[in-house]
Amino acid sequence: VPTPHLPKATLVIRHAHVATCAAGASDAGVLADAAVAVSGHLVGWVGPDGALAAAVDLEGAESIDAGGRLVTPGLVDSHTHLVFAGERSGELVERARGRDYLAIAKVGGGILATVRATAEASDAALLEAALARARRLLAQGVTTVEVKSGYGLTVERELRLLRVVAGLEDALRSEMTVVPTLLAAHAVPPERHADRERYVRELCEELVPAVAAEELATSCDAFAEQGAFSLDEARRVLEAGSHHRLAPRLHADQLTCGGGARLAGELRCTSADHLEHVDDAGIAALAGAGVVAVLLPLSTLFLGLGRFAPARRLLEAGVPVALATNVNPGTAMTENAGLTLSLACLALGMTPAEALVAFTASGARALRRPEFGRLARGCEADLVVWGCRSVEHLPWHMGIPHALQVIKRGRSVYRAAPGAAADCGGEA
Ligand code: NIG
Repeated sequence: VPTPHLPKATLVIRHAHVATCAAGASDAGVLADAAVAVSGHLVGWVGPDGALAAAVDLEGAESIDAGGRLVTPGLVDSHTHLVFAGERSGELVERARGRDYLAIAKVGGGILATVRATAEASDAALLEAALARARRLLAQGVTTVEVKSGYGLTVERELRLLRVVAGLEDALRSEMTVVPTLLAAHAVPPERHADRERYVRELCEELVPAVAAEELATSCDAFAEQGAFSLDEARRVLEAGSHHRLAPRLHADQLTCGGGARLAGELRCTSADHLEHVDDAGIAALAGAGVVAVLLPLSTLFLGLGRFAPARRLLEAGVPVALATNVNPGTAMTENAGLTLSLACLALGMTPAEALVAFTASGARALRRPEFGRLARGCEADLVVWGCRSVEHLPWHMGIPHALQVIKRGRSVYRAAPGAAADCGGEA
């Protein structure tokens, strides 16, 4: 009997342990033995498997039997620096000799080392390397990725990096959504130290308007930290961005407590990122202004900071908490999104459900892209079928790949090679 009145499905995922991530910060929205129906590139229906046939027209739809496995929205990685050249593993030796991140930066290592290597690389090489990193994220279940510039430090070079990001967006169009951010103020080039006032003015009056005119980014970011930019400088850059309709974001209170979170609240930033050293006043400012706290525990571990961001206090204060990888050449040389979820639970004290929501729906919120990160009618049909049967098992079985299949906008875009990802219920 034809059922013309029912919405037509093009793809259904059946018999899944679905986590919709659409039920609030602490609730993964789990539905046991559930189905997700996709119509074209959107989620059409989510509910009990037994109710599927009465809810959608299944005629001609492709069907995937998840066999009780966990199905979630695609991960939303809301903070990365994917476009760079060179590598800095020598910093491990420096660190073993007792030099920390700021000390290495002071003698021309750190961000400036990457700036030099990036300047020497061709556009094609930058794109190819970024593409490889993005595909490693995809294999971890990431379907939306934010990508910052920030290793250019001059107007021309920052524009060039954002054009590479645009190339990445084109190359990945069917697999992953790329959200570009101008990291306008990342480090002061050594040759501009003597006249940093003029450098900051150039960022505000030349770089930001040029990026906005070419529509190369949707957000503007700054690194407020000792050895980087002062609060006042960061404020000027972010205000210039806002003036050009670039949403403000801020690297805040990462290495020291410098009042970054308070500034993020005052400027009503969409996100404040890092926050290992945020204080109570900073937390209150974020909560009051609805700023998303983007936590990056891989970097905390990588830098050996010994102090992780206070995720529990942020959540209890009502701050939306997102998790991201922060892939970059100096403080998170890893695309391991799964390990981020594990650290969130093991080091930040988040529950597995909070961690999953943070890496999906709240990541999307940090990017102002609510169509991602949730499995609800009308959202983009970005899904991951994981090789486990509960939300808890994902962070528990630490540091190994779990994504079996990734679907972007209703189409399968990644399948793990046999044996490459774990596929177990916890017993193997
Ligand atoms: O997010 N904090 C500033 N920027 C990066 C590090 C960049 C680098 O060391 O190359 C971060 O951790």
